[in-house]
Amino acid sequence: MRIIKVKNYEEMSRKAANIIAAEISLNPRTVLGLATGSTPIGTYERLVELCNTGDIDFSQVTTINLDEYYGLEPTHEQSYRYFMDKHLLKKININLENTHVPNGKAPDIEAECKRYDDLIQKAGGIDLQLLGIGHNGHIGFNEPSDEFIMDTHCVTLKESTINANSRFFNNIDEVPKKALTMGIKPIMQARRVLLIASGDDKKEILKKALSGPVTPSVPASILQLHKDLIVVTPLDI
Ligand code: GLP
Repeated sequence: MRIIKVKNYEEMSRKAANIIAAEISLNPRTVLGLATGSTPIGTYERLVELCNTGDIDFSQVTTINLDEYYGLEPTHEQSYRYFMDKHLLKKININLENTHVPNGKAPDIEAECKRYDDLIQKAGGIDLQLLGIGHNGHIGFNEPSDEFIMDTHCVTLKESTINANSRFFNNIDEVPKKALTMGIKPIMQARRVLLIASGDDKKEILKKALSGPVTPSVPASILQLHKDLIVVTPLDI
């Protein structure tokens, strides 16, 4: 594990974007695993800038997002498809057909989970997976549990996650209670994982994830076993 200590959120975002840019320069056909939440917004802004200046070419890149709320249309302002289009995908020179987010409105959720796992496999797995971390240690929407769940699955969100994410909705009742999330396997099989975290409210959970016991009750703790984990954070951990 490499921990890159930075001064603040802006520097974290620049460093993370530069790591992604370097990856794409070396491999124009990179399969990027992407995350949502407030943490990566600065990274996405910087990637858009780098694309505008011609420093990154996304034309051959594929993106595969971690998760999506169950029951939200892709056009819903709080859906993760909408988030990704708004913050990154519609602002760069990527072929939108090569950008993937689970379909939270799929009529057959089991089939959708299988389709997503097949898609990851057909893409040859993920080259670089960008991750944030939830306050309870979740990655994607892999919530604390008794076991690590390997494949894409439908998860019932924890109350703490619903509370934390309610800030994006008009009121807490609008927050979906379920989500589809990539499992632990493609994250751990990603050739490189880039974890970003900032804000004092993330300090304890980040410490626990990176130096506490590896346990499904802190899903991000599994990342300790990843062979190429880069953590970029301004937090003292
Ligand atoms: C959501 C996403 C996660 C993200 C987490 C933290 O639950 N599913 O992928 O890491 O939020 O979000 P934030 O960065 O806003 O704290």
